[in-house]
Amino acid sequence: MRKIKVAPSIFASDFINLKRELDRLKQLGVDYIHYDIMDNNFVPNISFGPLITEQIAKYSGIPGDVHLMISLSIEKVSRFMLENIEIVTIHYEADGFSKDIIDFIKSNNKKVGISIKPQTPVEAVVPFIDIVDLVLVMTVEPGFSGQSLIPSTISKVSKVREILDKYNRDIYLEVDGGVNLDNVQTLVNSGANLLVIGSAFFKNNNSEMIMDLVKHLNKIK
Ligand code: DX5
Ligand code: ZN
Repeated sequence: MRKIKVAPSIFASDFINLKRELDRLKQLGVDYIHYDIMDNNFVPNISFGPLITEQIAKYSGIPGDVHLMISLSIEKVSRFMLENIEIVTIHYEADGFSKDIIDFIKSNNKKVGISIKPQTPVEAVVPFIDIVDLVLVMTVEPGFSGQSLIPSTISKVSKVREILDKYNRDIYLEVDGGVNLDNVQTLVNSGANLLVIGSAFFKNNNSEMIMDLVKHLNKIK
């Protein structure tokens, strides 16, 4: 069984004090930094792009987990093939989604993820299950941090876990949106092993408690 890992979403951090936030992430020993890339097309919001991602990844030295909430093309995706970026995840529902993009990401020696929104059935990932390194189950509608987890998404996590077991795929099952101290245990019990945490990490001052809880869960696993 894979270790449970934590990927704080930098989108929820204090950008005025970004350096301090990054130093703290290093100190806490987080596994990844999660980068929420939004294009005001696939989602109704704009975040930041490759330039800022590159600088944060370089300064922090922490492996990067890029979550592309954008309409897709090889050209756009190629801008995120950056140093210290380990995972690039694309949305099944995005315009331009194709196996070619998955292959392109892999050919750049990155791990590739496929993400589904709360309304998308889990079966959507099955045709890609043998070629991806990660399945991301969105637990909120993508676009904004600070939302509450949608309860019906928890059974989707269990269903994806069943699919991964059935196909013998020991890959990441990532959850993203409204993850906090109160639901981490449930999500992990449902099969999640990569936790994206935004507001609960940066805004509610729970970072240490979250890291301790995950350490504990890894011990009793
Ligand atoms: C939502 C993003 C999430 C979000 C996480 O579109 O993909 O990564 O920023 O933030 P919280 O944990 O606050 O929901
Ligand atoms: Zn995200």
